[in-house]
Amino acid sequence: MSTTTDDKGIELCPSAISHIKEKAKAKQRRVVLPEGTEPRMIEATAKLLAEKIVAGVTLLGDEQEVGNLLKRYNVSRTGVEIINPAGASDLSSFVEEFMELRKAKGITKPMALEAMQSPLYYGAMMVRRDLADASVAGAISTTGDVLRAAIQTIGLAPGINTVSSSFIMTMPEYRGVRNKVFMFADCAVLPNPTAEQLASIAVSTAWTMATLVGEEPRIAMLSFSTKGSASHADVEKVVAALEILKRTHPALKIDGEFQVDAAIVPEVAKKKAPGSAIAGDANVLIFPDLDAGNIGYKLTQRLANATATGPIIQGLAKPANDLSRGCSVNDIVDVVAIATLLKG
Ligand SMILES: CC(C)(COP(=O)(O)OP(=O)(O)OC[C@H]1O[C@@H](n2cnc3c(N)ncnc32)[C@H](O)[C@@H]1OP(=O)(O)O)[C@@H](O)C(=O)NCCC(=O)NCCS
Repeated sequence: MSTTTDDKGIELCPSAISHIKEKAKAKQRRVVLPEGTEPRMIEATAKLLAEKIVAGVTLLGDEQEVGNLLKRYNVSRTGVEIINPAGASDLSSFVEEFMELRKAKGITKPMALEAMQSPLYYGAMMVRRDLADASVAGAISTTGDVLRAAIQTIGLAPGINTVSSSFIMTMPEYRGVRNKVFMFADCAVLPNPTAEQLASIAVSTAWTMATLVGEEPRIAMLSFSTKGSASHADVEKVVAALEILKRTHPALKIDGEFQVDAAIVPEVAKKKAPGSAIAGDANVLIFPDLDAGNIGYKLTQRLANATATGPIIQGLAKPANDLSRGCSVNDIVDVVAIATLLKG
């Protein structure tokens, strides 16, 4: 799938991001930035440390090149570590671990060495080993490359079967509430989720909502049908996902299948889904596929003037987040704050 800047831009509502940055400051975590030779990463490093959003930054790349950039941008070395993966002291143990991880795939030592010498994979291995709390890249790498390195090296969170993405959608005003927040997923990663994957997307998004926004998730599984109003294989997939969730996560506040109006408009909910504790009051919207999710978030952003914060990559055992290649220095700072919090 092709990516565009428009698709990937993190854009943050001032209240949402200041809340997230405050939480990140309290955690004082370490981030690895694999694209250490990119000037925007250098400027972001300066801001992250000056604003005390992280305790330290590891920049990957040639020591001399990164060092020269730090000098050119007048960035203090305090709190900054530079590692060149190709000559790193832990490279051979990273290679061993990666070979073990990928042995079922028939990986050879030269292949593992090549991967671990690449900053995206090296950074992901640092996160895997808790040498960094999160990795953030994508200013000069594609989404696919960032995600593949994270999936293969960090792996999935326990009980989760897919990486996905979510957006925090902040509405200027919704039914009398200013800056009302919804979480939408998946809007950027998985084109055609199965019922099992849809269930995992819901679990990951609930966790992201609770961790980043601090609100209790009330999840609606969306469809073009409400409680059996239509029958189609696509509706059955959503119903099957809901059944999985009710069985595996009985404590989650979740219901469906709902058309989106039944999910978020109490008057419609009363008519279409009477008796549902979620209908009319959902704050997490799980779309049945990527077409719906991507179109849904963009419509909300453009027609309702909502602020879309994301894509937030979720479902990994430890955080690694993607950036838009058109990202600004402030975008990088914001995504780092988000990613460090996703460690939980
Ligand atoms: C995730 C992504 C990188 C995988 O791409 P890919 O390499 O073509 O996928 P493949 O089917 O070849 O799978 C490669 C590996 O990743 C795994 N994988 C693929 N998608 C996955 C997902 N969503 N979650 C977990 N694992 C996934 C596969 O199981 C496979 O694992 P293996 O190597 O251990 O067998 C791809 O779905 C992608 O690029 N998504 C981003 C979409 C995008 O561009 N969105 C718009 C921008 S917001």
